[in-house]
Amino acid sequence: MTNLEKSTLSGKVALVTGGSRGIGAATALRLAREGADVAVTYVNGKDAAEEVVRAVEATGRRAVALRADSGDAEEAAGAVDAAVRALGGLDVLVNNAGVGVLGPLESLSPADVDRVLAVNVRGVFLASRAAAARMSDGGRIITIGTCMTQRVPGPGGTLYAMSKSALVGLTKALARELGGRGITANIVHPGPIDTDMNPADGPYAAGQTALTALGRFGTAEEVAETVTHLAGAAYVTGAEVSVDGGHAA
Ligand SMILES: NC(=O)c1ccc[n+]([C@@H]2O[C@H](COP(=O)([O-])OP(=O)(O)OC[C@H]3O[C@@H](n4cnc5c(N)ncnc54)[C@H](OP(=O)(O)O)[C@@H]3O)[C@@H](O)[C@H]2O)c1
Repeated sequence: MTNLEKSTLSGKVALVTGGSRGIGAATALRLAREGADVAVTYVNGKDAAEEVVRAVEATGRRAVALRADSGDAEEAAGAVDAAVRALGGLDVLVNNAGVGVLGPLESLSPADVDRVLAVNVRGVFLASRAAAARMSDGGRIITIGTCMTQRVPGPGGTLYAMSKSALVGLTKALARELGGRGITANIVHPGPIDTDMNPADGPYAAGQTALTALGRFGTAEEVAETVTHLAGAAYVTGAEVSVDGGHAA
């Protein structure tokens, strides 16, 4: 870590939704290594979230795990208030929690649509609004989208791509609405990333690998690196940043 990087996030407080595993856990740890105190949310993975807290604390930063379902309107916004109470402020929100329900159009029920939109869209809107109200000027809102907002390479992605595409509009509108306070809003589009959601040895892995220019899955740490860069970047806003191994190329 350079001195410049260290000072960028030193003394900052970050909230990472869905921080118990995968991209969220890697992001929480990376932000801490760059100097931030970190709150993470989870739903089922209490032990995993507490492990992330211990890993953050081992870097010398403070951390807290909060049980908050992003699909519940009160909990999505309430997590922001809880993070502020626990860590004394909020500078960086990472909207990472997300769910993927994939399948043919006719297989997707109205309940599937409600659940995916509640977690992937409404929860992000409500957390971002709560964060904007609580965060100091110069804050950062970073949202995790997907490469499927850029290119949908096959069938089965209607609901997931629709939900994540809404976040592109939200991000650009937030950038315009909050820019006067120096708050930036950006969206990161991961390609196939090796996590529980999308294991690199899963049944659909070979097809996804073939769609990347680099011919491999990415790691959660490779996404975390870009999220952490955006957490320190003052003149990048309203941007879509792909970390997709060339999936959209
Ligand atoms: N992996 C990929 O290939 C890929 C590609 C593009 C985009 N993404 C996006 O990247 C983000 C993270 O994905 P991932 O692959 O790291 O997923 P993951 O390994 O399945 O981890 C999901 C994380 O989100 C939490 N979570 C799930 N539903 C939640 C809810 N309703 N409220 C709060 N937390 C919730 C989980 O908590 P528990 O441990 O409590 O369950 C877990 O910490 C998602 O938005 C996903 O859509 C992933």
